[in-house]
Amino acid sequence: MAPDLFFLLYRSTARRPLDGDTVADILLASLRNNPRNGLTGFLHVERDCFLQYIEGPREPLLRTAARIRKDRRHKDFLLLAEGTIDDRFFPDWDMGQIASENLPTDGLLAERTWLRPDPDIDPLPLIRAFAVHANRQNGLEISETA
Ligand SMILES: Cc1cc2nc3c(=O)[nH]c(=O)nc-3n(C[C@H](O)[C@H](O)[C@H](O)COP(=O)(O)O)c2cc1C
Repeated sequence: MAPDLFFLLYRSTARRPLDGDTVADILLASLRNNPRNGLTGFLHVERDCFLQYIEGPREPLLRTAARIRKDRRHKDFLLLAEGTIDDRFFPDWDMGQIASENLPTDGLLAERTWLRPDPDIDPLPLIRAFAVHANRQNGLEISETA
């Protein structure tokens, strides 16, 4: 079990209509910085909304999250969940993006009403669902119930 593994899940809204260049810039910055900070996760983009999950050592994670939060490319940063995990869900993803057509959760962010911070909702099954589909996309089958 890795020591001090922390995760954070948030959603936010792009300030301008999103184009591929903006998303590519964000992913490039993530690929540049996250390996050095030991961070992995995914960025899901749907219309003008972001859903990002980041996992890794607590200090660099919080530092990175503070930087992301101040980024002028998005607004309405809403922390959905945070906590500790025993193992990484995305050990191979410096910051992956899952093509929408491969997602079990099409319309996840468009259906905004339920996606709110709620201490009674365990976010890990949602993260696990993303991980399962991410791994399928990479050709690595893992059990849906794992
Ligand atoms: C939705 C969103 C997600 C981001 N995710 C990350 C990330 O995972 N890691 C990261 O270093 N920067 C991320 N950024 C970019 C940071 O806000 C910031 O621009 C960047 O870290 C600066 O890196 P640089 O100093 O290497 O240019 C994200 C930005 C946005 C808008």
